[in-house]
Amino acid sequence: MSDRYTVTTALPYANGPLHLGHVAGVYIPADIYVRYLRANNKDVVFIGGTDEHGVPISIKAKNEGVSPKEIVDRYHNIIKKSLEGLGISLDFFGQTSSSNHYDVATEWFQKLHKDGVFSEEVLQQYYDEENKQFLADRYITGTCPSCKDEGAYGDQCEKCGASLSPTELINPKSALSGNKPVLKETKHWYLPLNNFEPWLKEWIEKKKNLLKANVYGQVRSWLDEGLRPRAITRDLEWGVPVPVKGGDGKVLYVWFDAPIGYVSFTKEFLENDPKRNWEDYWKKDGGSKLIHFLGKDNIVFHSIIFPSMLKSMGDYILPENVPANEFLNLEGDKFSTSKNWAVWLDDYLQDFPDKTDLLRYVLCSILPEQKDADFTWADFVAKNNNELVNNFANFVHRSLVLTNKYWGGIVPAQGELTDFDKEILEELKKYPFKISDSIEKHRYKEALSHLMKLSALGNKYLTETEPWQHIKEDEGRVKTILNISLQVTAALGVLSGPFLPKTSEKLLAMLNLTSLKWTDVSINNIAAGHKINEGVHLFKRMDEKIIQEQREKLEKAKHEAEILNQKMEPQKETTTFDEFQKMDIRVGTIVEAHKIKKAKKLLKLKVDTGIDQRTVVSGIAQFFEPEDIVGKQVSILINLAPRTMLGIESEGMILMAENNQGELQFVSPGSPFENGAIIA
Ligand code: MF3
Ligand code: ZN
Repeated sequence: MSDRYTVTTALPYANGPLHLGHVAGVYIPADIYVRYLRANNKDVVFIGGTDEHGVPISIKAKNEGVSPKEIVDRYHNIIKKSLEGLGISLDFFGQTSSSNHYDVATEWFQKLHKDGVFSEEVLQQYYDEENKQFLADRYITGTCPSCKDEGAYGDQCEKCGASLSPTELINPKSALSGNKPVLKETKHWYLPLNNFEPWLKEWIEKKKNLLKANVYGQVRSWLDEGLRPRAITRDLEWGVPVPVKGGDGKVLYVWFDAPIGYVSFTKEFLENDPKRNWEDYWKKDGGSKLIHFLGKDNIVFHSIIFPSMLKSMGDYILPENVPANEFLNLEGDKFSTSKNWAVWLDDYLQDFPDKTDLLRYVLCSILPEQKDADFTWADFVAKNNNELVNNFANFVHRSLVLTNKYWGGIVPAQGELTDFDKEILEELKKYPFKISDSIEKHRYKEALSHLMKLSALGNKYLTETEPWQHIKEDEGRVKTILNISLQVTAALGVLSGPFLPKTSEKLLAMLNLTSLKWTDVSINNIAAGHKINEGVHLFKRMDEKIIQEQREKLEKAKHEAEILNQKMEPQKETTTFDEFQKMDIRVGTIVEAHKIKKAKKLLKLKVDTGIDQRTVVSGIAQFFEPEDIVGKQVSILINLAPRTMLGIESEGMILMAENNQGELQFVSPGSPFENGAIIA
């Protein structure tokens, strides 16, 4: 193991809070890894922050009538606070809208530009004439050429996942005005990824055994398809200005500036540190290992694009590993911000302020390391009760309580060892290595299961040796048993640190152990004669009603979002006053209403129009019972050409209001009015 590490967490966009999908995919594994490294005396910087450019942020700002900076500051703070709440031990959590970041990103662009790394191209791009703006990425929507979904964006179709360019959209529309855009000439800078292909191939092949299979597979397929130049500038206002001639009115593409954030944040973090220098964590001379934690949708950026940028910078290190995770689902469905199908981290912390280790535990135990995984509240409660309470907390509690009860909290000495005792100690010895090995291979689920097996081993030992049965007749034997149990307990105290930091701290405090280090954990973790403290329960049993409560909360939030998301029918084509005047609409009263045999949707009405009483067939049977509407005043179009339906002639049409869900209401005068009154 080298001794220096630069560990990064992918920067979430600062336009919404974090949900458990983000947490499981990136922050939990990264934090376990970093806590493990620190426990092993490695020199680590652990860097994260928010990604604050990109079109969705500008659109959100425009919709709310505030500046983009106001939006990103708001969500940056929410995200930062919630990560702290979960005990994610980042050294620095930066913002890509900071002036330091602008400086660093500008320097990078200028250097690569000067070195002739980029290519330039003048091309035709969609432009909104009303708003006088080029329509990059999500400023343009239209129909997806692959799946024909009508809500595809200029960079991607969220329905089928196709990655798109604006000119591929069928029926393109400006997201700003809804207008059909025109094509207009503009110039952009490109990173010619094709030039990097040969060394990328070689580099990735060398890493084949180190990379997770899902990561290697994705990179390989990108490389096999052949890389193309990628535009790294945009015609937008919000972003890092393009700092070279001809760059007026243009900014760096968000995916170009964001990963540079890892570097600029390290610089900002260590700026005033007299002992450490940011360059040691980024330049080849420092010999640091760079590890990027991210979700699977970010793989290409961290294993192809950013490495090409780092390589072009000359003296920078390249990623050692890119442990990307697949996605986490929620109760069987994809997390979705727009559908509000999510458990938000800040919400969780409000509902369960003292259960942060529980969330860390549950997420780690279901990490989507190789394939997508599912978070359910039933599983959450079951894992608390069956694993943390019955296994971990129960074992720890028994060891501590019995020691306090029999010997006033003084660790007893071992006597003669039985074969079973020796077997337990032999097993115990292996655990620090097993856990380390899994963590170093980025197999966090496996690492956690080792930890739980160790506590299960302790439980089994106590259950089989039954010290409480022998205390009267053989105190010496009981001393040995409790000594061994405490060796296991102390190991759990240290080895649980990366996964369950608060629990580990509490447990070590209960054991009154401050000096035991990961590297020393073996079979002599706690000395005979050492005084321990009172044992308290580390985890509490949870009531199953929480499952129902949380599911209802999810459903309610989803329903509220559905109502908000309902799209209004767009306005119809313009009509003239004269055309409208041709419609003769009157107030009328329903005087009779009957069901029609074999017509589920229709009612036969007799309506008093003030002029006459006439028959109207109306498609309202699914919403109204005949007896409920007799006497009702309605609006009726009386000069509609008569139509015959199911042998009944209908002479007019009742006007109805219809909402998005297809529900109907009569359009009636506000209070009783004369039949025949003109509506115009
Ligand atoms: N904001 C991006 C996303 O959420 C991730 C950016 S990671 C970085 O998908 F490398 F660009 F920083
Ligand atoms: Zn599509």
